[in-house]
Amino acid sequence: MLYKRMSIEKESPEELGYDNIQYNLAESSVTDFVLKDLELRIQDLSLCYTDHKGKPALRELIVSGYNNLDKENVLLTVGAASALFIIASSLLSKEDHLIVVRPNYATNIKTPETIGCDITFIDLLFENNWQLDINDINKAIRPNTKYISITHPHNPTGTLVSEADLSSLIKIAEHHNLYLLADETYRELCFTEPYPLAASLSQRAISVSSISKAYGLPGLRIGWLITRDEQLMDLFLAAKEQIFITNSVLDEEVTYQFFSEKENYFKTISKQIARNFSIVEKWMAREKRLEWVKPGGGVVCFPRMKAEYKFDTNRFYDTLLHKYKTLVGPGHWFDMPDNYLRIGYAWPSTVELEKGLENISLALDESIK
Ligand SMILES: Cc1ncc(COP(=O)(O)O)c(C=O)c1O
Repeated sequence: MLYKRMSIEKESPEELGYDNIQYNLAESSVTDFVLKDLELRIQDLSLCYTDHKGKPALRELIVSGYNNLDKENVLLTVGAASALFIIASSLLSKEDHLIVVRPNYATNIKTPETIGCDITFIDLLFENNWQLDINDINKAIRPNTKYISITHPHNPTGTLVSEADLSSLIKIAEHHNLYLLADETYRELCFTEPYPLAASLSQRAISVSSISKAYGLPGLRIGWLITRDEQLMDLFLAAKEQIFITNSVLDEEVTYQFFSEKENYFKTISKQIARNFSIVEKWMAREKRLEWVKPGGGVVCFPRMKAEYKFDTNRFYDTLLHKYKTLVGPGHWFDMPDNYLRIGYAWPSTVELEKGLENISLALDESIK
């Protein structure tokens, strides 16, 4: 396959160098944990290959609370990114058709594009509060449609698919014998009670998630997919074994120990999210040149520059980064115009966030045409 690097990765904070950014509002996760803040007992860990599906006790924890899911329905992967790759490369070929909701996390678009399948994009609109129109999905279905790909809570807008739309999507998948791929990487970060895992609602739904976004552990590279379809699981396991055989036993163990205590860790995390979100809300109320659809979850929002103001967007991003040492995600990371910007508000400290938002306002002042 002819891979091309994606802007969101090429221009990511870690590729730019964390030392070059003072106010990092470009992350789509909560603050990263530091190893010493986790209470780990790992000295006796054997550094062997591990269970090919992943540590059984961790897989059990991932679906605990669901009586129609068990550990056999869970495959651990290297972050959600590799789960998405495994699914796309196992299910799609040049002859197939895919429906993808856009904007979306780049991998959900770029891997299918690289495979060369036919893609129908369902474009969400700001004017429609970034909400899906189920009729558009229905109209896009073809005999060779393999799956419908959604992310929810949505990246980059932080909006939620309504419960009614989710259940319509599941009905469509069941009726047409195709799959619903639900990238639920931000599910724990809904501002209200999260919906059940999509995979628990139907054999036709595949759930994907990881510990990167809600738990601030992206460097551990642990994610998973969940499906109740045994044949599909076998296919995905074969793909995993051909790519990396198993996960890192060390990553799995650290994740397991963290997950066993995750409610405790999450208390602090959710306080930080709520505090930072209220700062963004206040700033948005003051910043009259931007407008947004208020998110219902996640840790990012996707405001845009109002059409009545004319901005030089290149100058804006350049000034923001080089003069004010502040990074946000420009629209083109999501195949959108650069008058849209993604602000990640839960990774920086509260003080850094406040300063970063002020810097956005200053850069807007300096890039008005
Ligand atoms: C919606 C979504 N899915 C998947 C990923 C991949 O994350 P990871 O591989 O770290 O789990 C990201 C990362 O930004 C994302 O936003």
